[in-house]
Amino acid sequence: MDTMKLTATRLKAEQLLSKMTPEEKLGQLGQVAMLKSLHPISYYVDGVRAGRWGSRILADSEWAGNEMGQRIDIESLNAIQKVAVEESRLGIPLLHARDVIYGHGTVLPIPLGQAASWNPELVEQAYQCIAREARDMGIHWTFAPMMDICRDPRWGRVIESSGEDPILTSKLTQAVIRGFQGKDLQEPGRLLACAKHFCGYGFSEGGRDYDTTEISPHTLHNVVLAPFRAAVQESVATVMTSFNDLGGTPVSGSQKLVRQWLKGQQNFEGLVVSDWASIADLERFGVSKNSEEAALRGFNSGIDMAMTSDIYDDHLPKLLEEGRLSREQLDDSVLRILEAKFKLGLFEQPYADEEASKISWRAQEHLNFAQKLASESVVMLRNQHDLLPLSPKGIRLAVLGPYACAKRQALGSWCIDGLTEDVTSILDGIRRFAPELDILTTPSSFSDEMIAQARMADVVVLCVGESHVSNGEAKSKANLSLPPGQEDIIEAIGKTGKPLVIIQCTGRPIPSPATERYASTILQAWHGGTEMGKALAEIIFGKTSPSGKMPMTVPRCTGQIPTYYAQKPRGKALGVPQYRAYEDEDEKPLYPFGYGLSYGKFKYQNLNVQNKQIDSDEKNFASVELINVGNIAATEVAQCYIHVRGGDRTRSSKTLIDFQRQHLEAGESCILHFELSPEHWMSYDEQGQPQPLSSGEITVYIGGHSNIEHGAIFNVVERQRC
Ligand code: BGC
Repeated sequence: MDTMKLTATRLKAEQLLSKMTPEEKLGQLGQVAMLKSLHPISYYVDGVRAGRWGSRILADSEWAGNEMGQRIDIESLNAIQKVAVEESRLGIPLLHARDVIYGHGTVLPIPLGQAASWNPELVEQAYQCIAREARDMGIHWTFAPMMDICRDPRWGRVIESSGEDPILTSKLTQAVIRGFQGKDLQEPGRLLACAKHFCGYGFSEGGRDYDTTEISPHTLHNVVLAPFRAAVQESVATVMTSFNDLGGTPVSGSQKLVRQWLKGQQNFEGLVVSDWASIADLERFGVSKNSEEAALRGFNSGIDMAMTSDIYDDHLPKLLEEGRLSREQLDDSVLRILEAKFKLGLFEQPYADEEASKISWRAQEHLNFAQKLASESVVMLRNQHDLLPLSPKGIRLAVLGPYACAKRQALGSWCIDGLTEDVTSILDGIRRFAPELDILTTPSSFSDEMIAQARMADVVVLCVGESHVSNGEAKSKANLSLPPGQEDIIEAIGKTGKPLVIIQCTGRPIPSPATERYASTILQAWHGGTEMGKALAEIIFGKTSPSGKMPMTVPRCTGQIPTYYAQKPRGKALGVPQYRAYEDEDEKPLYPFGYGLSYGKFKYQNLNVQNKQIDSDEKNFASVELINVGNIAATEVAQCYIHVRGGDRTRSSKTLIDFQRQHLEAGESCILHFELSPEHWMSYDEQGQPQPLSSGEITVYIGGHSNIEHGAIFNVVERQRC
């Protein structure tokens, strides 16, 4: 980002700050939900006139985002903003915040699905589109991207994540930040992004939402915080503190994490917001004896703005008067908030633009990016006897199951603005793509007719999944399985013996025994957004080859959780057959992280590292030949992993360091090159300080998933100083 502009915005913020009364300063620290259920609108308008709030969250329920809510009413939004701009003493506009998590009018696949694309460029382009739609409607600030590392698919919020890996998560969430913020926040169509949830929330015990987290300092600094470090490097404008207790300290009351690590060590200069009432939760956690103490602790920990809570409003004025609140820290918080407003050009452009919004809402270009992303998010887990692609003519196709016509479900659980009627269902997508095809279908619920239709078909596409109401916030599951009845449907259809394509529309990886038993082809299609049906039809009929790769390991059963590719080597058990992981279950997951097939057939050969030995501060290079030995052009996501032996810490059996998407025609080959650098084998110590590896052995693996067996070795040796 442009430093001249940053300095200019800082100056403006400082000038404004110098004119503010203590009340006006404190006012900026509050974010109000303006819930009509709590107060009449006149109460809020008076408050805005008095400068009581810095921001307004556009949430229409106590529990933002989880249900389709009211549309944004541009007229009333502008009317209240007008009061802030024209009637408050200093005319400071309100920052309008809304959860634009993965779509607005145009809805993209859920972030976990997007992560399966392994395509940061495309993600960035798609987010530019939704940023534009949201900004034109008067939204200035979004609470995305979520960068929680998730190793437990029972946690309902995995849908909002990029999965289990810090590098994949960092690259994708950096792309989201670029998509929202662009190079210059003052360009039209930009939003302030928010890196959340800082930090560790994805490690909730048992996958239970809001539950406690126990994370070792090593895992915290090397895994959990990695995407936040990357977000700060990407100049993310804001960060949200999380709900969880981390090893005895609730994060929204942790000076060590917020003030020291984030604002201090990482030099984060933007604004820190709490999660919904997470400062008030400090009292519930029992670490603050009342809400006043909670407010003080939240503020001291470094949280600049309190989300939707009166807690700062109620207590900070008194605490300031009593001299218990640092005036210096107050000024610092206010400056961060004002600077965010200046950076965004909010003083010049405080209002929603209704005319622009009519043009940007679901513009064709946006739909194209959403469809491309929906397509690249599909992971083909199996394709026996090359059942797919199908011919769009001359066969009789049954399209069945609870998700064949589903629309609302495709929007996922955190979609406030997308409209159900804009969704192309899977059945509609197929019908549009192949109008001449003889298509059989039945209503979504199980019936004898469903089996009869399957019997009459040449091929069956059976669409199963979980609904948006069973994942997302506070929607965790104890048993990782398809909803009741669906295994039976798969079984009944499977027993017809017809070639069976199963499309799984889920918000997380879910093992399905009947699918494993009967499906010839499995497509993991997530909640794919408004364009999902079109994307799937193109894949089914071969206009596009699937290219997605799993961003999370698929466990065989709930009891295998947590299972993730980057597990540490298990000392004693390594290579000894009688030291099994389980007596009653295979140790290996159902599908490993990074796995996914295409209509091409990719072969990797001639893996090579340039130098067999390097000095500890040197780079190295690896290459591999990739060949599409199949008959169909396709794209492969080549993944480069390393395993490090050396240093006094155990390392993951494999660590992803980079990946490349490569399109190859049938029979074509190419050489892929990966750069390997000391930052890939350094690690962070318990204080978060980088520790270079002075000597060790590195094995490099390059392939199409994380379960690659053969690697190439090189050594890192300590540089001899003369
Ligand atoms: C969620 C956040 C969200 C906020 C505002 C909270 O319940 O944890 O992710 O941004 O609500 O809607």
